[in-house]
Amino acid sequence: MANKRHAWGTKLGVIMAVAGSAIGLGNLLRFPVQAASNGGGAFMIPYFVAFFLLGLPLMWVEWTLGRYGGGFGHGTAPGIFHNMWEKSRFIKYFGVIGIFGPLIIFIYYIYIESWTLAFSFFAIFGKYTGATTEAGMQSFLRGFQGLERNQYFNSLVPAYTFFMITFLANIWVIYHGIKGGIERLCKIAMPLLLLCGIIVMARVFSLGAPDPSRPSWNLVNGLGFLWNPDLSALLSAKVWLAASGQILFTLSVGIGVILTYASYLSKGDDVVLSGLSAAGTNEFIEVIIGGSIIIPAAFVFFGPQSIQAIARGGAFNLGFVTMPLIFQKIAFAGLFGGAWFLLLFLSGITSSISLAQPAIAFLEDEFNITRARAASIFGAVTFILCQPAIFLLGKGVVNELDFWGGTFCLVLFATVEIVLFAWVFGMEKAWQEIHHGADMRIPKAYKFIIKYITPLFLFAILGFWFYQDGIPTILMKNVAPSDRPFILGTRIFLVTIFVGLAVMVKMAWSRKRRRVKS
Ligand code: ALA
Repeated sequence: MANKRHAWGTKLGVIMAVAGSAIGLGNLLRFPVQAASNGGGAFMIPYFVAFFLLGLPLMWVEWTLGRYGGGFGHGTAPGIFHNMWEKSRFIKYFGVIGIFGPLIIFIYYIYIESWTLAFSFFAIFGKYTGATTEAGMQSFLRGFQGLERNQYFNSLVPAYTFFMITFLANIWVIYHGIKGGIERLCKIAMPLLLLCGIIVMARVFSLGAPDPSRPSWNLVNGLGFLWNPDLSALLSAKVWLAASGQILFTLSVGIGVILTYASYLSKGDDVVLSGLSAAGTNEFIEVIIGGSIIIPAAFVFFGPQSIQAIARGGAFNLGFVTMPLIFQKIAFAGLFGGAWFLLLFLSGITSSISLAQPAIAFLEDEFNITRARAASIFGAVTFILCQPAIFLLGKGVVNELDFWGGTFCLVLFATVEIVLFAWVFGMEKAWQEIHHGADMRIPKAYKFIIKYITPLFLFAILGFWFYQDGIPTILMKNVAPSDRPFILGTRIFLVTIFVGLAVMVKMAWSRKRRRVKS
């Protein structure tokens, strides 16, 4: 007998879950660093162009495709693509990207998420108090990550313990299903996340100019550093690529997770307003809260010269080194530090459970496995797959996983799904399908955008990437020679996982054919 598919409990629940998937470390760490290093306020022009021409249309497309596939009992791309183009024997294999991508992101994202949990404990219990210089805090972080042994840490045991707690918490939520696990968690975590975000933002806004001898190191100039536009940046293809990549990553579109979440809707459920609400909530948290915390705070304490280097140092440095240093300079350091890392943790867990969901749904829908068994199999397999990210962190493995799983696959998958939707399924049918049960209508211009502009935009991104970075990336030109064997190993690891998933798709369809014949 076929598994009964899960369903969301309430409309608000599903919007919160999709917003929870979208709001993540990308909003609070990745966005401000991308904006600060790609033209400041000018970044917002390509960013919003990408939002309206890429992110929002893909959001609607994925909600629609998910709901459509769910109607046939499929919650992942192989089945959904196959239903849209039944004549093609191969399209389901393109759908593998929609399970592979989130799985790859999951296996490193969850480790980073566990650092945020660990650092909220460290903040509250004053564990990093005393590491008051950048070098000191760097060694604290490196010691924790097992990259060096020092006075703070002499083994990976604490990091591994927090990883295990985070991992088990994720599996526990997934095990309890869509309504009892994911929806329940998001209903608690999302308001709490907003509360933590507002507390930290309000504290940053009340900083003024903490050092009277340097009055220009103040909040207004800090916001100015992030938001004053450098219009020359608009001429750089790199800035446009960065903005488009950020939009896909932050909205969680092109990954495959929204397809799965939307597959648990029922046929008459609205997707237009729900998609818009989830995207709008994500943008509020990203631009307003994400844009008001780390960069302005770092500017106020470290000044206009150092902030450049700090922003270039990347998102992790800002989140795990600069922010703890800042919190140590203000009263109630434990409280605000704890709120900051809890904010990161909540945003992380609501995203990672969504990254797990396509693999779970694939096992449930295509192999007719119960949720409990699917969660156990997923837990056992991903536990092993997470190990390289933990033990080979210093060898560039996480960056490599992030590039293929978290950047390249997103653009590729988004391109396949939009072409399939607008051109194979057909725009007229697609437009009707989007509006089925909708409370509002999408402006007509989007019919043209979805059919022509979004696909062209995605092809342009793929083309530019290949032209600018494709060959050097493939040939590992920018990788240190000592890291090359590890990067090569990671690529073999990735290909093996992809092939394994493709074989599973083949097995699932052979089973179905056998069942139809008998
Ligand atoms: N959308 C998620 C984030 O922004 C993956 O972190």
